Amino acid sequence: MANFFTAYALPAPTNEQSVALLLTAATEVDRINLLNDTDFVFDFFNPAPDSITASGLDGHIVTAKRDTFPALVGSGLALSVGFLGPCGLNTPHTHPRATEFNFAVNGTLRVGMMAENDGRFVMNTVNPGQATLFPRGAIHFEQNLGCDPVFFVAAFSDEDPGTSSLANNFFGLPADIVGAAMGGLGTMEVQGLDAAIPNNVAYGVDACLSMCGIKRP
Ligand SMILES: *[C@@H]1O[C@H](CO)[C@@H](O)[C@H](O)[C@H]1NC(C)=O
Ligand SMILES: *[C@@H]1O[C@H](CO)[C@@H](O)[C@H](O)[C@H]1NC(C)=O
Repeated sequence: MANFFTAYALPAPTNEQSVALLLTAATEVDRINLLNDTDFVFDFFNPAPDSITASGLDGHIVTAKRDTFPALVGSGLALSVGFLGPCGLNTPHTHPRATEFNFAVNGTLRVGMMAENDGRFVMNTVNPGQATLFPRGAIHFEQNLGCDPVFFVAAFSDEDPGTSSLANNFFGLPADIVGAAMGGLGTMEVQGLDAAIPNNVAYGVDACLSMCGIKRP
């Protein structure tokens, strides 16, 4: 049976239009009829520009979530693939609406997470074929411990998991507030630190960089 769009030969809808229709569809059958077959395939290795949810000097992240892959509407799921360059660090961040289950595909990752105040800091080395869990809202990071590019696959328990990058968003607060929260740093010092914060994915720790013979730019 032809779906709504092919039947009337309308131009392909934008993702926003698709999501709006899918969110108001009465049933899953209706949702499937609103989409064509290829709408159910997401290509992490050839992503649309709006699917690249982070891009820095040492890697990038591609995310299939409700707005970049409307077929997810109603599923309660999202998925990222993180491409980490040598020593690449997915900088500390939280996902406000989703728990993350992160699978190391072909690289060894140093991962850590801090769930909340008074929580214990949990750190692990995750080898290829292993996965680790970051509870919803926990501050966490993943660093490639090797000198070759690697990738991980991260599943999320929400279609719109959201990301809050810690350093970037903290230093995006008013400089006098940040300075006071840091025990009385001056505005100039705060602005100097802010300017030094890299985009995600960033170069990781010095020990890895020197092992791999990489100079931090
Ligand atoms: C399926 O829909 C997408 C966008 O919604 C469009 O780009 C593509 O051309 C459509 N494919 C077919 C076979 O109609
Ligand atoms: C991991 O897989 C990616 C994608 O195929 C590839 O570019 C990279 O070189 C691989 N890394 C290792 C260490 O095998």
